[in-house]
Amino acid sequence: MDETTTPRQRMPRFPHGFAWGAATAAFQIEGSTTVDGRGPSIWDTFTAQPGRVVDGSDATTSADSYRRWRDDIALLRDLGVDDYRFSIAWPRIQPGGTGPANGAGLDHYSRFVDALGEAGIEPLVTLYHWDLPQALEDEGGWLARDTAQRFADYATLVVDGLGDRVTRWITLNEPAMTSLQGYALGELAPGRTLMLDALPTVHHQLLGHGLALAAIRAARPDAVVGITNNHTLVEPASAEASDLVAAGAFDAIYNRIFAEPVLLGRYPDLSALGLERFPGLEDGDLELIGAPIDFYGVNFYNPTRVAAPSPGSPFAQAGLPFEPVEYQGAPVTGFGWPVVPEALTRLLVGLRESYGDALPPVVITENGASYPDEVVDGRVADASRIAYLDGHVRAVHAAIEAGVDVRGYEVWSLIDNFEWADGYTQRFGLVHLDLETGERTRKDSFAWYRELIAGQRG
Ligand code: BGC
Repeated sequence: MDETTTPRQRMPRFPHGFAWGAATAAFQIEGSTTVDGRGPSIWDTFTAQPGRVVDGSDATTSADSYRRWRDDIALLRDLGVDDYRFSIAWPRIQPGGTGPANGAGLDHYSRFVDALGEAGIEPLVTLYHWDLPQALEDEGGWLARDTAQRFADYATLVVDGLGDRVTRWITLNEPAMTSLQGYALGELAPGRTLMLDALPTVHHQLLGHGLALAAIRAARPDAVVGITNNHTLVEPASAEASDLVAAGAFDAIYNRIFAEPVLLGRYPDLSALGLERFPGLEDGDLELIGAPIDFYGVNFYNPTRVAAPSPGSPFAQAGLPFEPVEYQGAPVTGFGWPVVPEALTRLLVGLRESYGDALPPVVITENGASYPDEVVDGRVADASRIAYLDGHVRAVHAAIEAGVDVRGYEVWSLIDNFEWADGYTQRFGLVHLDLETGERTRKDSFAWYRELIAGQRG
């Protein structure tokens, strides 16, 4: 990168106090899956089933961060981040999903949080990033209402153990993906293919959020609590009425059934799906789910173009009133996801327009891109990732200028890691991971982000 393209000189200035960070999740980086009393999660089960993960890999080592956490903190320090978003593995705290805290598991995170504090990096802790204890899945997983209470109990244990040093908590990461890909389509753990019968998992996760929120507030009145939803900007494939209706239905099931209960205390109208009342909903639930939160976490990767289902397509066969179609006219990431930074501005402005004062300050809790990075002569020249991140950071700034209160930005991800059903085929890190040796190599995007952060301070 030459001087003229250095973002430090050209990136607009963000508001004072805007927090810059990087994100990871326990199952994707930790490895050591049988160490210190950790119990099995649905992801251990899923990855052990042949054909579930594209490259046949698993997460037993991954970035080895359970053992190499000091290396991760050194990287974060070098990067100059304000905060680090990481998750706690529920099966390390409650190996069987219930009962008292496993001391060895809690101690690990306690040491980690202390070391972050010494490095001057604020923890932003996700309580649930998809690694449900297998024992709870055996009892129905998120199809069972009881799992919501189990989650609140687990959250209480963690907050009791770490709440004297951790202020900011995210209850759930992307309940949409758990319900849609995990229980409806079977692409992620636990690999169920229930289609619309998966809908109770939406409600039970959100109830888990509400119960955990109340439990955290009771244990630590000073806690700062939010939830992270994955949002996509939905664009109708054409101006035809059928595509507009399809786009609306997709928006409801992907975005709004997760946002509206939390922000407005009600579910959107789902009569297009033949639903009058949300499956699993009981009296009093929405009061818990809609209780005020301190920030709203948004994960954003790409927009989605949606059409009416073509006759005979899998969507039509499943009775779904929409079908995502190829997004033409944009470059794509290694995953094939369209790169459209201004979609993030539109999404954020749209959230503000839809929810008004019910939208608390927003934190971009994930944003990033995968590319097939390689180390060549000790260097990873990931110009495409820099372009992606640069565009999206500017898109966040544009949203702030347009009046959206955005308080922070977390790059997904600090380091290449286990990309769920895509194994190690997709690299999202600012840091390259050598899968054989565990060696960490800072990519060019690492230097870019470090310079961006330094420039915002200077
Ligand atoms: C998840 C991450 C994942 C990323 C990229 C998000 O859906 O929270 O765990 O690695 O997207 O696919």
